[in-house]
Amino acid sequence: MADKKIYSASTTAPVNIAIVKYWGKRDTKLNLPTNSSLSVTLSQADLRTHTTAACSSTFTENSLWLNGEAQDVSGARQTACFRELKALRKKLEDANPFLPKLSEYFVHVVSENNFPTAAGLASSAAGFAALVRAIADLYELPESPTELSKIARQGSGSACRSLFGGYVAWEMGQAADGSDSCAVEVAPASHWPEMKAVILVVSAAKKGVSSTAGMQATVNTSALFTYRFRNVVPKTMEAMKAAIKNKDFEQFAAHTMADSNQFHAVCLDTTPPIFYMNGVSRAAIRAVEALNTLEGRAVGAYTFDAGPNAVIYYQEKDEEKVLGFLGALLAPEVAEWAGKYAKVAPEGYDNRPF
Ligand code: ADP
Ligand code: DP6
Ligand code: CO
Repeated sequence: MADKKIYSASTTAPVNIAIVKYWGKRDTKLNLPTNSSLSVTLSQADLRTHTTAACSSTFTENSLWLNGEAQDVSGARQTACFRELKALRKKLEDANPFLPKLSEYFVHVVSENNFPTAAGLASSAAGFAALVRAIADLYELPESPTELSKIARQGSGSACRSLFGGYVAWEMGQAADGSDSCAVEVAPASHWPEMKAVILVVSAAKKGVSSTAGMQATVNTSALFTYRFRNVVPKTMEAMKAAIKNKDFEQFAAHTMADSNQFHAVCLDTTPPIFYMNGVSRAAIRAVEALNTLEGRAVGAYTFDAGPNAVIYYQEKDEEKVLGFLGALLAPEVAEWAGKYAKVAPEGYDNRPF
């Protein structure tokens, strides 16, 4: 009798917020970046993607439902992820004829983000990490997170870093085929567990310019961008790794804020200019700068991805100061305070049901 069983696997994946930003591709097909990047993976208690992948001989097409809406899966990114994962499954099936031939079946994916999608809070990172992880679990693939990160990278560059918890680098690599462009752990969350982040949801609206389109426009038009990826980011990567190793929040904050500001300067240097931050974002910057000046040390470190929403890193001991000060100055303007207690996540993904 034909196998009509529906096989399925569910997983969750966290967002990661870069402290050295990825912005620019040297290869748009393989999602190979012009510079390495570094991020902190946030706790899934607050922001996460939940994804279920299923396959069956009875399915007649691949599909992806995101937040209850059918998505186009014919795009290069989704296709690349499905193709690479199926190829790995095929290898297992070739080695073991008793395995069901899942590689021959179509795949259905259902995903939900519990935070704003396409609003500069790394939904593509959590989303593609969860998609790859769910299908890898469905196929019972033995590949390591670093190997899987190369597949997630092809879905969305930043997604490769969400396969790990803690402090994570995406090493840009040299190879033309992308075989050395992958995520690696810089330090586990337990190395610096005092690190926390508060996320100010300034706007949950979908951004006007997607990260993919924005960075291509930058690559094509910005002179400042060339200076950034050649002369600045390589040094910032080293300095940031040292700051993490030494748990030096002063250095961590200085480089985080400078990198975010330079990334947004590069967006402004793009033709036509891209404005991801708005007036409330700038008010958040001023508030953190004022707090740090008042205290005579780095208490908070702001960073903004491709959107207006602020992520402010701080050390646990300073929680009252940061939340009190920002709350007093920004409360009426900020729509929602998500992840008030977002810690650094110990795991990149999590298979526990919830
Ligand atoms: P963000 O700043 O949120 O990462 P991007 O412009 O980089 O915004 O990417 C948003 C796109 O990522 C969405 O339009 C969608 O195509 C994809 N995406 C977001 N969440 C998911 C998910 N859970 N599963 C699959 N794809 C997702
Ligand atoms: C500003 O990874 O979303 O958040 O690879 O085209 O999907 P694609 O872009 P994406 O870009 C993220 C840009 C960023 C910085 C970062 O996360 O490093
Ligand atoms: Co993104």
